[in-house]
Amino acid sequence: MKKILVTGGAGFIGSHLCPLLEQNGFKVTILDNLSPQIHGDSQQPPSWISKYNIHFVEGSVTDRPTLESVLVNVDGIIHLAAETGTGQSMYEIEKYNLVNSQATALMLDVITNKKIPVKRILLASSRSVYGEGAYVREAQESSSRIFPRPRLPEELANHQWTAKDASGKDLIPVPTREDDKIQPASIYASTKYAQEDLIAICCESLGIGYGILRLQNVYGEGQSLNNPYTGILSIFSTRVRMDKHLPIFEDGLETRDFVHVSDVAGAFLSALKRGEAPNTIINVGTGQFTTVVDIAEQLTRAFDKEPDIRVTGQYRVGDIRHNCADITRLKEVLNYTPKVSLEEGMKRFVDWVHTQPLPEDKLDKANQELKDKNLMG
Ligand SMILES: NC(=O)c1ccc[n+]([C@@H]2O[C@H](COP(=O)([O-])OP(=O)(O)OC[C@H]3O[C@@H](n4cnc5c(N)ncnc54)[C@H](O)[C@@H]3O)[C@@H](O)[C@H]2O)c1
Repeated sequence: MKKILVTGGAGFIGSHLCPLLEQNGFKVTILDNLSPQIHGDSQQPPSWISKYNIHFVEGSVTDRPTLESVLVNVDGIIHLAAETGTGQSMYEIEKYNLVNSQATALMLDVITNKKIPVKRILLASSRSVYGEGAYVREAQESSSRIFPRPRLPEELANHQWTAKDASGKDLIPVPTREDDKIQPASIYASTKYAQEDLIAICCESLGIGYGILRLQNVYGEGQSLNNPYTGILSIFSTRVRMDKHLPIFEDGLETRDFVHVSDVAGAFLSALKRGEAPNTIINVGTGQFTTVVDIAEQLTRAFDKEPDIRVTGQYRVGDIRHNCADITRLKEVLNYTPKVSLEEGMKRFVDWVHTQPLPEDKLDKANQELKDKNLMG
């Protein structure tokens, strides 16, 4: 397998993955529409692309003629192109469905009807498909797994953050496995699940190898500093540089599994290089729960500043409370173990941020959009 099409390859994950693929002997074509929300208004491909032997095509995955032209003679596809903001997806519903679900259907339609001999398709899916993910009542091995439904707006308004058992005791989050219950809590999550289903069903029927990588919270160098809708570390880094306080939703004890972008690129490379396609779903994370307060403190300290953190009790409809991946399959099926510690990854990220112009802080504007639509309290 030599010729790889990376959709959305000019973005954050693509900026680590495409050079890694090229260095490993793959011929890479990127299809990317240089979305202004990610790339600003420059409309120039990012400068890193010219340092590698990578073919860049500007265009949208929603456009059939463009897809038909870039899919010619392609051996493998890594499908990254997507709209990625959880909160934004709750009011840009049509756009999220068009770019995420419908464009994936279009790509598969072209492959099927033009008889494109693609051998493998890898999808960047998301941990968001699990919704609240897995919990237990007691912290014991034998305790059975529970999958609470997504939190209701009225529960969030009452500051009832964590799912409870019948007696009113907080349930305990545990790492979520790939075969745990799927319960998307946002439009973004539902579109990522739609992508998964389309690819798995179509690839099974056509005999194309596939891999669905459910990425956790990816962070690191190259994450758009312009996009206020996703990427907590990028958003907060701008405020730290401006000596503004960091507003933290809920009680700050919500958790995420932060995985460095180079480990995500490494996992995709492993999935591509395997003799046989994994033909399965694989979590890509670290297996570690980190609270949002912790990450905000660590980030500020990495800038050599004192944390100014304000836990606001505010919330966004569609957010999940806890998230952490069970990474047994990542290790066993892809033979990949994450290499970058949070401390090291944070240092690399902050060193990179220092090289970037200070962007506008658009967080308040993004939050106001949610408030105007009753999606934030
Ligand atoms: N970053 C994360 O934390 C994370 C977590 C889970 C899943 N993912 C998934 O990984 C993938 C890549 O995410 P990322 O963090 O690199 O995002 P990103 O926004 O940095 O990159 C996405 C790229 O897709 C391009 N794009 C957007 N719409 C397009 C269209 N219609 N046609 C062609 N290109 C288009 C954008 O210009 C951008 O370059 C996405 O599918 C996302 O859902 C990311």
